[in-house]
Amino acid sequence: MRHLLTLMEYKPHEVEYLLRMSRDLKTRYLAGEVYTPLFPGRIVVLYFEKPSTRTRLSLSAAAAQLGMQPMTTSPNELQMGRGETVADTMRVISRYAAAVAARVYKHETLEEMARHSSIPVINALSDRHHPLQALADALTLWERSGRLHSVKVAFVGDVANNVATSLAIIGAKLGWEVRLVGPKQLWSMKLIDELSEDLAKTGARIYFTDSINEAAGVDGVYTDVWISMGFEREAEERRRLLSPYQVNSRVMEIAGKKAVFLHCLPAHRGEEVTDDVIDGPQSAVWDQAENRMHTAKAVFAYLLR
Ligand code: CP
Ligand code: NVA
Repeated sequence: MRHLLTLMEYKPHEVEYLLRMSRDLKTRYLAGEVYTPLFPGRIVVLYFEKPSTRTRLSLSAAAAQLGMQPMTTSPNELQMGRGETVADTMRVISRYAAAVAARVYKHETLEEMARHSSIPVINALSDRHHPLQALADALTLWERSGRLHSVKVAFVGDVANNVATSLAIIGAKLGWEVRLVGPKQLWSMKLIDELSEDLAKTGARIYFTDSINEAAGVDGVYTDVWISMGFEREAEERRRLLSPYQVNSRVMEIAGKKAVFLHCLPAHRGEEVTDDVIDGPQSAVWDQAENRMHTAKAVFAYLLR
């Protein structure tokens, strides 16, 4: 049984295939082929322990466009909220649905779901990974730079979070240069180690730096919130640590005119990014949000085929 938990478990050619399929599905959608019923009547369960706008709606739209019916739920609506085990819940969901996408606090919950599932489990965000987001990010950078490989991107801010980690992973698969710009306390050499095989294979380069000047000459400057869901207790400490890493006009000037601005959203305007940047001419964030829908269709098509 194939799942999508981190993208680390995918080979470079599979990631490339997913992106080519996403681009094809998007082209067809924009040409008026909104309905591509590859899996008529199948059910997709969407399970959310935390809030979501884009992931919830893009997965629902993607499922509907493929002829499937999404069913959205959360722990307190299920007996899981009263102690039914993850294992038993997954055994039951596997009898109803063709796939399940889950947004969880702990990444281990997804691993446990996958162990007890006979249908594909898709990570809709965990504390450590956000692979669906990374696919949409890669599609957006491909569209904007004209390149699928050899893209240069600087992620500025909370370089330890799920979105930064997934960006580094997809960059390793696609032969990118990913500069993770943030305070030393948040660097993870373990991540670089885990990616070493892919780096050798694709020629990608991933590195941490605390210098904003490393944003120079990139295709994209990416940021995300400083306080991710589930990390609220560290809010004060994180604001103090990350305030030198706000993406503002000065950072975009360092990056250069050809750099697009990326953000997975939701944005905390005035904190990790200023209004003039997110609303400015270099911003690609709405395309990025749209691309969540087309990449989600590709993921369903790939896992359910
Ligand atoms: N980018 C993203 O995953 O957004 P949501 O939290 O709104 O799903
Ligand atoms: N890093 C953020 C991403 C939200 C889509 C979080 O986990 O809250």
